Amino acid sequence: MNIILLGPPGAGKGTQASRLVEDRGMVQLSTGDMLRAAVKAQTPVGLKAKAVMEAGELVSDEIVSGIIGEALDGLPAETGVIFDGYPRTEAQAHSLDAILADRGRSLDHVIELEVDEDALVERITGRFTCASCGEGYHDTFKTPKIADTCDRCGAHEFKRRPDDNEETVRTRMAEYRAKTAPILPIYEARGIVSRVDGMADMGEVTKAIAAILDGGKG
Ligand code: AP5
Ligand code: MG
Repeated sequence: MNIILLGPPGAGKGTQASRLVEDRGMVQLSTGDMLRAAVKAQTPVGLKAKAVMEAGELVSDEIVSGIIGEALDGLPAETGVIFDGYPRTEAQAHSLDAILADRGRSLDHVIELEVDEDALVERITGRFTCASCGEGYHDTFKTPKIADTCDRCGAHEFKRRPDDNEETVRTRMAEYRAKTAPILPIYEARGIVSRVDGMADMGEVTKAIAAILDGGKG
């Protein structure tokens, strides 16, 4: 099964994708995570992407579609994939069709996480992750069970994303509205879009997504 998680910054795409990885053995392909790894490693892609990401704008379609194709090539055909943060433009949506067709894959579901934009700023500015294993946390909504200690791996260092400040978040949201939301009709025409209330409790969102994946068509 191959699915797209769609939603504005902070909607919970990464949170829900990592639960699907844990619960169903699917693989999460997050272009944001892959780009951040490239920035950290100072690869040619990372050097191009760094300033664009810090401004909250979109990295070029060629770069992100390239990294998605490469990532899929490294996976066994039977492994289910969650696309998190990709596609984000009409051009990327068309590239994904070609990338999947070339590899004998198809899309089963596009799940849109519906959220209230004002609440997202609070979600994003309160977000942090374990510097060691990447587990995600939030100052209010998900704090480590033992202060300053990662629930998953026990490490004590955490980090925050450079693009998680209010000004950049507003730009990221504007990019979503202008370039990403307009791709939904492509998938609506195929009858594979389902909507989930992304403002619900994290566990409720997980249940709603499970019901879609287990219930067949969206
Ligand atoms: P990317 O990394 O994809 O960022 P994003 O889309 O802005 O989304 P986020 O990762 O911020 O949010 P999320 O939906 O994953 O939310 P999360 O689960 O963490 O992209 C970053 C940048 O990379 C882009 O701006 C662009 O420059 C570039 N890029 C990436 N892909 C690209 C592409 N395809 N094309 C071009 N450029 C690309 O949740 C947020 C917080 O809320 C967490 O703290 C979490 O604990 C909390 N939370 C989650 N769910 C709930 C809930 N139900 N209730 C309460 N709190 C919750
Ligand atoms: Mg994310």
